[in-house]
Amino acid sequence: MVDWMPRGMIDDGGPRYLQIVAAIEHDIASGVLSPGTRLPPQRSVAEHLGISVATVSKAYDQAQQRGLVSGEVGRGTFVLGIMPKAHSPDRPREGRRLNLALNAPPDTGSDALIAQALKDIADQSELKDLLAYLPHQGTFQHRDAVQAWLKKHAMPAHVDDIVITHGAQHAIAIALGLLVSSGEMVLAENLTYSGMRALAVHENYRLGGVAMDEHGLIPEQLDRAFAETGARVLFCMPTLQTPTASTMTTHRREQILEVIRAHNAYLVEDDAYGFLCDPAIPPLSRSLPERSFYIVSFAKCLVPGLRIGAMVVPPAFRDRCINGLRSTGWMATPIMAEVVSRLINAGHVEEQVKSKRAIAARRHSLAMDILGKLVSVRTGPPGFHIWLKMPAGRTTSSLITQCAMAGVTIAGPEVLRSFDPMSNGVRLCLGTPETDADVEFALLTVRRVLDSTEVMSFV
Ligand SMILES: Cc1ncc(COP(=O)(O)O)c(C=O)c1O
Repeated sequence: MVDWMPRGMIDDGGPRYLQIVAAIEHDIASGVLSPGTRLPPQRSVAEHLGISVATVSKAYDQAQQRGLVSGEVGRGTFVLGIMPKAHSPDRPREGRRLNLALNAPPDTGSDALIAQALKDIADQSELKDLLAYLPHQGTFQHRDAVQAWLKKHAMPAHVDDIVITHGAQHAIAIALGLLVSSGEMVLAENLTYSGMRALAVHENYRLGGVAMDEHGLIPEQLDRAFAETGARVLFCMPTLQTPTASTMTTHRREQILEVIRAHNAYLVEDDAYGFLCDPAIPPLSRSLPERSFYIVSFAKCLVPGLRIGAMVVPPAFRDRCINGLRSTGWMATPIMAEVVSRLINAGHVEEQVKSKRAIAARRHSLAMDILGKLVSVRTGPPGFHIWLKMPAGRTTSSLITQCAMAGVTIAGPEVLRSFDPMSNGVRLCLGTPETDADVEFALLTVRRVLDSTEVMSFV
């Protein structure tokens, strides 16, 4: 045993046990702790730091899990010495990249349920019917199942006003296609869903960002944005907003509704994550049925690959919406809608939701443990994403680059920001490269990157 104690522990607001692990990690990397060294007994460390033995015990356990040390019953805890690859900051974890950019739901075993549903469908004579051209809006049975699901989640709707879509993204595209023309502005939270940004690029919509606080859109800012831009459509996510994870309070919802009404505007409400609330929070659209397009997805409560979503449309838009479905895909794939309907009717979607909520809660508390104060305050249920505030003096670009080198993919804020095309640019300094040929090469590289598809499809 050496006379070693954890030193230089930085109080970053995170838990003490992780600070001890970081000190062990640091001292192994710098050679202070050599292989085979026995760490001091947990009680001595606890007394030295003025913390509980349980905290030190948790730190030693964690260090063991990371492969830094090995605990031997009755003998003590020994340094293994070599920094394991998995935690080396410069190397991907055993060659695998870890993706923190894509907002996919955690696996809760939906595939087995889907496999069974597909088998049942294939074994039954209904398959032939599902392979035909069916109503663009979705069959009555499929809309009926979705209606039951929506009712459970605080959004009662008439079955005639429900349409089945190829996922929420498709629904957003149809709704905005009915409300906005090329070149017109859509207001959205100033950090928004990447699919909205992609759609704006594709359809030439101008996105006007509206400031948010921890409860989502700020009503006064929305009011001003409507007045100043003349926009008449708002796209927003009142529950578990992406990317910030903010959730509007009831009061904030009422204020936002008031502003929308005052400007006679339309609302496209994306409620992709609303199912994570228990109890359910009534969506804004419920109070504004004649001017709202309310959108849900079965990508997050089941799996994305089914490509099934649904939208509740104002009755006055129903026929145009059905034409929108016809013109963009005829109808959502009936077999997939059938799978979703069966899983709703059998109560499986609700079970999946419960499992997903439990995983979200676990992972959220893990994030709080590890990142502490850097995680934005939670204003709604735990979701599948958190918003990380950059510590003072740190930039997102270096975080993203360094994490990429270490095998962890993080999306840059640019792909999530509502943008004004005029202010969306970067400075290119042509004086610094040594030769004209260097400038030419650099500019060709920029051109090549700009000409390729922008990498926002991975979020
Ligand atoms: C907020 C939000 N809306 C919509 C979608 C798209 O859902 P779908 O896969 O059903 O098109 C996503 C998917 O990531 C999302 O995060």
